[in-house]
Amino acid sequence: MAAFLLLGIGLGSSLAQEQRCISSLFRKPGDYILGGLFPLQVLTTNTTYRTLPDVYVCERLYTAGLIWALGMKFAVEEINNSTTLLPGIKLGYDIYDNCMEPIVALQPSLFFLTKTGTSSVGVLCNYTNYQTRVLAVIGPQSSELCTVTAKLFSFFLIPQVSYGATTEKLNNEELFPSFFRTVPSDKIQLEAMVELLLSFKWNWIAVIGSDDEYGREGLNLLSSMAVSKNICIAYEGLIPSDVSSPNLEEMLEPTIQSINKTNVNVIILFSNDRPVRALLKQCLKLGLSKKVWLATEAWVMSEVVTSLKQVDSIGTVIGFIIKGGNVASFQEYVSQLLELTQQKSFCEASQKEANEVGSNVLGPQCPQCDHISQENISSVLEHRQTFAVYTAVYSVAHALHKVLGCESGQCKKNNIKPWQLLEEMKTLRFSIKNQSFHFDQYRSISRGYEIIAWSWQEGRIQYISLGHFNGNLSINESLLHFHTKNQKEPMSQCLTTCKPGQIRRMKGFHLCCYDCIDCEEGTFCSSTEDTTCTPCPKSQWSPERSSQCYDRSEKYFFWSEPLAVILLGLLFLALVLTCLAGTLFLKNLHTPVVQAAGGGMCLLALFSLALMCVSTTLYVGKPSATICKLNQPFFALCLNLCFSTISVKAFQIVLVHDFANSRRTFLHWLIQRCPWAIVALCLLVESLFCFWYVYASPPIVVHNYTLLPTEVLIQCKVQSWPVFALVHGHNASLAFISFLCTFMVQMPAKKYNVARGITFTMIAYFVAMVFFIPTYTSVKQEYQPAVLMAAILLCTLGLLACFYLPKCYIIRFKPEWNTMDYFQDYTRERLEEKDSQD
Ligand SMILES: *[C@@H]1O[C@H](CO)[C@@H](O)[C@H](O)[C@H]1NC(C)=O
Ligand SMILES: *[C@@H]1O[C@H](CO)[C@@H](O)[C@H](O)[C@H]1NC(C)=O
Ligand SMILES: *[C@@H]1O[C@H](CO)[C@@H](O)[C@H](O)[C@H]1NC(C)=O
Ligand SMILES: *[C@@H]1O[C@H](CO)[C@@H](O)[C@H](O)[C@H]1NC(C)=O
Ligand SMILES: *[C@@H]1O[C@H](CO)[C@@H](O)[C@H](O)[C@H]1NC(C)=O
Ligand SMILES: *[C@@H]1O[C@H](CO)[C@@H](O)[C@H](O)[C@H]1NC(C)=O
Ligand SMILES: *[C@@H]1O[C@H](CO)[C@@H](O)[C@H](O)[C@H]1NC(C)=O
Ligand SMILES: *[C@@H]1O[C@H](CO)[C@@H](O)[C@H](O)[C@H]1NC(C)=O
Ligand SMILES: *[C@@H]1O[C@H](CO)[C@@H](O)[C@H](O)[C@H]1NC(C)=O
Ligand SMILES: *[C@@H]1O[C@H](CO)[C@@H](O)[C@H](O)[C@H]1NC(C)=O
Repeated sequence: MAAFLLLGIGLGSSLAQEQRCISSLFRKPGDYILGGLFPLQVLTTNTTYRTLPDVYVCERLYTAGLIWALGMKFAVEEINNSTTLLPGIKLGYDIYDNCMEPIVALQPSLFFLTKTGTSSVGVLCNYTNYQTRVLAVIGPQSSELCTVTAKLFSFFLIPQVSYGATTEKLNNEELFPSFFRTVPSDKIQLEAMVELLLSFKWNWIAVIGSDDEYGREGLNLLSSMAVSKNICIAYEGLIPSDVSSPNLEEMLEPTIQSINKTNVNVIILFSNDRPVRALLKQCLKLGLSKKVWLATEAWVMSEVVTSLKQVDSIGTVIGFIIKGGNVASFQEYVSQLLELTQQKSFCEASQKEANEVGSNVLGPQCPQCDHISQENISSVLEHRQTFAVYTAVYSVAHALHKVLGCESGQCKKNNIKPWQLLEEMKTLRFSIKNQSFHFDQYRSISRGYEIIAWSWQEGRIQYISLGHFNGNLSINESLLHFHTKNQKEPMSQCLTTCKPGQIRRMKGFHLCCYDCIDCEEGTFCSSTEDTTCTPCPKSQWSPERSSQCYDRSEKYFFWSEPLAVILLGLLFLALVLTCLAGTLFLKNLHTPVVQAAGGGMCLLALFSLALMCVSTTLYVGKPSATICKLNQPFFALCLNLCFSTISVKAFQIVLVHDFANSRRTFLHWLIQRCPWAIVALCLLVESLFCFWYVYASPPIVVHNYTLLPTEVLIQCKVQSWPVFALVHGHNASLAFISFLCTFMVQMPAKKYNVARGITFTMIAYFVAMVFFIPTYTSVKQEYQPAVLMAAILLCTLGLLACFYLPKCYIIRFKPEWNTMDYFQDYTRERLEEKDSQD
């Protein structure tokens, strides 16, 4: 029993510490040797404590790197087995660990440069015939290491084919003339990302990079590409790339707060997996809301990230992976190999082979590899990058195929130099299992990207393939389930679109952030993309924030306006009063009061007043050219007729009163005997002025589009103000003269004072004018016709009230005053006296 137990323990422990000879698989002799640089282990010690330039000890195993290295071994064996590619040729390889450190990678790189068969690098001035240990180098995996090693190999023109370095820098043929890669450069991934952003209309994003070459370059490239596509980066930040830093959490916190502040919903994370894990962990801890994370190929499928607790609640993760393929029967090969490496015979054989390669200066590679089990590598066995390694080896083999002239079916086993291979590789086109490959202008093999998304099912991650990018983006959005409530894509825009009639004005430095500004009145913008408002044409108008213009309606003094109705009422009143007065005067034409007022002339004056009232209707309604021409002359002539009859009366009074004793002249005679002639004369003069006014500089109809916001104002415009002044000045001077003639006249008591009536009439006229002029000039233009009309009606009413109605009152209500005695026409009386004296 105890023995069994002991046996069991012994068996268990021997299983746990399976001893394999994997470390002896990294070298293989051959006619032509390929160098390999792989991260088999990770440097964990602090290099600052290194005081002697001795060997670096790398401790932790990096299983993915081991698989890649086995991928190279597999490819070389496959090529060796192939009867067409390099028949009769045996390829060898020499694989070294670089510990992911440039400084460590230098040592094997130097070793590759040693002269075949020795362990020293010759210093020559002409290396044309220098035979280096290796013909070409596969690797290393990272951009950082490649930029260091590629310089070295470039001098010797040794082809170097990396299976993982994606930095844009390495595109520069001048700096790295012998560098090739079987992965696309980051720029293509960024193009794919930008296309993805555009396809989801996300233009307000945050970009985070790790504080190393990879992250910084990604950030720079993305910033410049985003600007040209109108995508705005709300926040751009770096996170520490060194995850062993003790205060990592505090260093990540400001970044997360900033992201929270910007309200972005989409974050691009340009980093390797370990910093990503640290960042996501902190995001989950601080409770950042769910976001869309765009993952680079460096971390989207990394177990380092996906094994993080609760990482499924981080939001939606969409990532890009380099399109590759599966290396057929590689997995079986690896399991076979794992079994073989436990066999003593196999180990001895391979150890012997490894020693054949020669120099053991670099010591055993990857001692930890000898303790792995199947489980340790099962998760990375399907690593996509293995295909890139596989392609890299094949590209070199195909170049060799050409250089050795194997097309004929038999290779010449020439002694060839690396630079000969390089020439061939530049133009190389090859195919592996019916898939064709070639190095593009940047000496990269780019088969595009596959776009994948994380999907969690029962706590296990699955990668859903959404589509691919190869110059053009093609994805099936319906396969993607977002973290939002409706599973639709969240918005990530600085601002939603403006309303119709608004234009965009850029806010701050961000091209995507803009304020919506309303278009002012009289301007419009037809589309919300506009940045300026377009003014409406003259004949149209628009309200504030309008997307179109409307035709202006016409504006003039409408019949239906309340003011027009009031004024028409006034007109009716004036007309009725005038007619009543006229009727009354006509009936009592021969009574003293009418005779004293002017007799027949009064009737004429009242008729003209009636006409004047009627003429005010010319100011209502739409003005036409004829109406504009006629309305002022019509008024002026009517008023003139009225005034001239009154003036005649005034002249008579003053003549009798003040010049009674002076010598009689023709004028006396004219005024006394032929008053009609004076009336006619006045009318003639006025008519001449009016004629001038109408024909020399007639008023015109103008359409004023600028005055009113939504209407076009149609009004008459006087062309020549001097002539206008003459037309009205003549009437005013008649009125003034009449006033002067009558205001000093004294009348004997008990007599009706005709002169006083004239004075008051003229005062009424002037008062009306004095009120009219300032009102007319200060009132809004659209009311000017109304003011004119009101002024004329008031003038009419003033005339009626001061001159005619008092007489009507006497006729109607005080007939006892209507006597010759009271109304003795003193003018006539005096004249008659005079006549009798003569
Ligand atoms: C290595 O040690 C130095 C000095 O102690 C320290 O400043 C540095 O941060 C350490 N580096 C790492 C990677 O631990
Ligand atoms: C090469 O051929 C040998 C036998 O000829 C076989 O054992 C080995 O698996 C082959 N290798 C590959 C990579 O196909
Ligand atoms: C290389 O291929 C040949 C023919 O396929 C085979 O005989 C030989 O054993 C192979 N060598 C190695 C090391 O795989
Ligand atoms: C270097 O050596 C090669 C071969 O011997 C020769 O053709 C070439 O001219 C040499 N270059 C110079 C610069 O001497
Ligand atoms: C994000 O901001 C909101 C308010 O702006 C705050 O309530 C929340 O705690 C913040 N979240 C984080 C992770 O800082
Ligand atoms: C391999 O896995 C075993 C347990 O499965 C573990 O103890 C061991 O440390 C692992 N080895 C390496 C190199 O990771
Ligand atoms: C490659 O293509 C040829 C002809 O086009 C076909 O016969 C062969 O089966 C293909 N091989 C593979 C591995 O697809
Ligand atoms: C991408 O699409 C455009 C038009 O849809 C086409 O003109 C262009 O050739 C396509 N490019 C690639 C690389 O397929
Ligand atoms: C997208 O995916 C859905 C769900 O699998 C499928 O029904 C649909 O046909 C796909 N559309 C395209 C264009 O491939
Ligand atoms: C319209 O009226 C405004 C304000 O009185 C004036 O400045 C403008 O010149 C007028 N336009 C026309 C065409 O008469």
